Amino acid sequence: MQTKLTQLLNIKYPIIQAPMFLVSNTAMVIEAMKGGIAGCIPALNYRTLDELRAAIKELKAAKVEGGSFGFNLIVNKSNIKYKGQLEVLCEEGCDFIITSLGSPEETIRQAHAVGIKVFCDVTDLKFAQKVESLGADAAIAVNNEAGGHRGNYSPEELIKLLTSNLKIPVISAGGVGCKADIDKMIGYGAEGVSVGSPFIASVEANVTDEYKQACVDYGAKDIVMTQRISGTPCTVINTPYVQKIGTKESWLESVLNKNKKLKKWVKMIRFSIGMRATENAATKATYKTVWVAGPSIEYTKAILPTKDIIAKLVH
Ligand SMILES: Cc1cc2nc3c(=O)[nH]c(=O)nc-3n(C[C@H](O)[C@H](O)[C@H](O)COP(=O)(O)O)c2cc1C
Repeated sequence: MQTKLTQLLNIKYPIIQAPMFLVSNTAMVIEAMKGGIAGCIPALNYRTLDELRAAIKELKAAKVEGGSFGFNLIVNKSNIKYKGQLEVLCEEGCDFIITSLGSPEETIRQAHAVGIKVFCDVTDLKFAQKVESLGADAAIAVNNEAGGHRGNYSPEELIKLLTSNLKIPVISAGGVGCKADIDKMIGYGAEGVSVGSPFIASVEANVTDEYKQACVDYGAKDIVMTQRISGTPCTVINTPYVQKIGTKESWLESVLNKNKKLKKWVKMIRFSIGMRATENAATKATYKTVWVAGPSIEYTKAILPTKDIIAKLVH
């Protein structure tokens, strides 16, 4: 399973345990590294820069041959901690950064100066060409089977579109739950995969057992898109609570969103309410079950240690 991704990160298998808001943590990434893959955590999973710094130190101390670790940075204006997070990552060091939502220019410049690789989430060719021209080390092709903020193209369409137009390696994100899926993505031309949803129901994940069990009990057909979390459509499990509140923006929101001046504020309020609801659902006992996951929970049949989930992916 040697590919450009295994060479770039010096890992055994061409797999990144994808960054997941609220879910990913150092325990998962340490197991990922032991299993010969790369692990990534959203910097936003840490409330303070000191907590982020402590996590980096823990991962540096736990790093093993054949494994690799990185962090995800939201690089647009919605992330008010961005500058501080980038500074800490560059000071402490990590193997790679995955950028999402915005221009990675500044991140690439600063990270490359200290030897950190930068991979950028992309959903179309235009943005992929932009990140390549800015010096990204790889493009992460987020397809329409991904969990979270998914793309519009099927895995095959997106991988082929990007690999035929880019020189940098393409890593496929979305819809991978077993080794056959990885072989398929590599067959389309990808140099590796980024896998999120199948790791939610891991023993090590930070979320409640109810959320993990929902990933076992529900499947691909139960995933719906909702606009009620961040304003941008996001995949969630279609629980009775999600059915009750609906997946479209409210009537008032859609009216306010048509007003150019108010739109920005409506989005910010929606983002803040949606994020709090998601955090409560992920970490506390609540009937308001808004659980983010993608269709690849289809493969989740039990809550398992991370190492067993990796074994399912590589064997
Ligand atoms: C619960 C959850 C949270 C996520 N949070 C983030 C995030 O904070 N930043 C990010 O760039 N991508 C995030 N993603 C997307 C993943 O990094 C990855 O692209 C996606 O999970 C791949 O699709 P899969 O779930 O089918 O494996 C999230 C996905 C899930 C399921």
